[in-house]
Amino acid sequence: MPTILAVSGSPSPVSSTHQVLTLAADRLGARGHRVESLAVRTLPAAELLRADLDHPQLADAARQFAAADAIVLATPVYKAGCSGLLKSFLDLLPQFALEGKVVLPLATGGSLAHVLALDYGLRPVLMSMKPRAVSESFFVHAGGIRQGPGGFAGLEPGTGALLHEATDRFAELVEALADGPARTVRLVPAA
Ligand SMILES: Cc1cc2nc3c(=O)[nH]c(=O)nc-3n(C[C@H](O)[C@H](O)[C@H](O)COP(=O)(O)O)c2cc1C
Repeated sequence: MPTILAVSGSPSPVSSTHQVLTLAADRLGARGHRVESLAVRTLPAAELLRADLDHPQLADAARQFAAADAIVLATPVYKAGCSGLLKSFLDLLPQFALEGKVVLPLATGGSLAHVLALDYGLRPVLMSMKPRAVSESFFVHAGGIRQGPGGFAGLEPGTGALLHEATDRFAELVEALADGPARTVRLVPAA
């Protein structure tokens, strides 16, 4: 089974985004995938901003990214785009760091006005990194998140079911491409 890396791009220590990502990762794990995780906020901040790949933690993170067959990228929506933390991490990686990989973009956000932030903001960034395929993006609005005394207390049932669907579609894509030749797949047919 392919290895999937779940990358959390929220700077928050009590992150809803991280929790949504964990639910997706659990779903993928239950399908038999080997799922690893990387929380960008745990990387040394100054070295991340300087893109200092000589730092062992950053070098390890880049190696972990390179070794994965597929990536789940999760970010909170900040200012109608992805977090600066996630973008800093992507900027650290080689130009075609997504070559041969399948990607699932996930976001949480407070405004439905920004439901397209992943497709208008993050997707072009990902495409520039030459992915094999980018699965359908999934945006979780704050209204779909239950909050308890300790913060995140799960997803509303409808939102949870949609997350499962998006995760399953991604997993099917990863599995379908796992045995095929390593080339970029164009999901939009030529006219
Ligand atoms: C600095 C900042 C900027 C934000 N900008 C937006 C925004 O432009 N659009 C939006 O839908 N939500 C915005 N939000 C709300 C967050 O996306 C939302 O609360 C998200 O679930 C936070 O995820 P986290 O718990 O992982 O940090 C913003 C929050 C912060 C702190």
